[in-house]
Amino acid sequence: MFAARTQWNLASNRLAKLLEEVRARGGEVLDLTASNPTECGFQYDGASILKALITPAVLKYHPDARGLRPARQAVKDYYEQRGEQVAVENLILTTSTSEAYSFVFRLLCNPGDEVLVPTPSYPLFDFLADIQDVKLLRYPLIYDHGWQIDFHALESAITPRTRAVIVVHPNNPTGHFTKTEERSKLNQLCAAHDLAIIADEVFLDFPLNGKPCISFTQNHSVLSFTMSGISKISGLPQMKLAWLAVNGPDTQKTEALARLEVVADTFLSMNAAIQAAAPTFLAQRHGFQQQLMARVRNNLAELDKQLSEQKSCTRLEIEGGWYAVVRVPAMRSDEELALELLDEGVYVHPGHFYDFPGDGYLVVSLISKERAFSEGIEKLLAHF
Ligand SMILES: Cc1ncc(COP(=O)(O)O)c(C=O)c1O
Repeated sequence: MFAARTQWNLASNRLAKLLEEVRARGGEVLDLTASNPTECGFQYDGASILKALITPAVLKYHPDARGLRPARQAVKDYYEQRGEQVAVENLILTTSTSEAYSFVFRLLCNPGDEVLVPTPSYPLFDFLADIQDVKLLRYPLIYDHGWQIDFHALESAITPRTRAVIVVHPNNPTGHFTKTEERSKLNQLCAAHDLAIIADEVFLDFPLNGKPCISFTQNHSVLSFTMSGISKISGLPQMKLAWLAVNGPDTQKTEALARLEVVADTFLSMNAAIQAAAPTFLAQRHGFQQQLMARVRNNLAELDKQLSEQKSCTRLEIEGGWYAVVRVPAMRSDEELALELLDEGVYVHPGHFYDFPGDGYLVVSLISKERAFSEGIEKLLAHF
């Protein structure tokens, strides 16, 4: 009855099952996996958000496959305020970065074509690829006092069916940015093999050193698709507003935009209210990002303080984003460890969720509420 592409193992994983059990027996769970900013105690300007949704503009239907121009202008302004030029003509609005991935996969890949993804990285790629009949090939990131792309492995993984390389800038959960030299090497490699770059920049505005990092929207030497959205930038995942910026050599860029417009026109998934509110939602980012970075810095300082008081665990270096990777003794699998910790009331993600190269990695969210974070880390470290 069903297509092979949806033949997933739908049983809940052991960690999800245990989480349900612990909660059902009324146990307190110190959640170090929190990633929903609307549940983390940040203050939003609720009145402005609601006001922006109620406007006469939403009573008219003016379909525009690329997204309504004033909303695209708000995205252009966002980049301009970062000191980066992006033309409204090169933007396509989507309901999420996941939808943007799906548009780009549709544009570039025939069934069975390949896209290179970094590992460790964001676990949703497998599903996004399955749904579009795209095959994922993995290229390793290597850790040596910071993360870097293993270019030798990346180049060796390319086959005649490879269409694009994904970079997550900064990556989730390793928290490292793609460096300028890496970008040049990536451009050379993609030009040589006729590949596009797909850059996921949902965490771009969260560098720990406070210095803005250059967006791939400024990458013009190869065809580049940069995606981002307000789910992270403004902490408003419920509003479903994201975008895709297309850059690169003129002929390829124009052709890509024309084809993407047809893909977008087929769905016309953007609704009027969210587009009308786009300037307000993007303006909300300043207050949100300030609170979020304060939380991240406090939690990171607390983590470092507690780590300095023991010898078994360390953390990997981070440059930005919302997560930290804790290196723990690999006495058993990450999954076993995460289950034991959950049984003791601390919920963390095992490294294998993100395809870490071995055991001994736990991922913690730095946006967790401070008390839960501090008590959770204390229990986590006491485990070893
Ligand atoms: C790297 C990365 N890309 C994209 C997303 C999802 O973004 P959106 O809500 O716009 O689909 C996430 C969410 O955690 C993410 O970590």
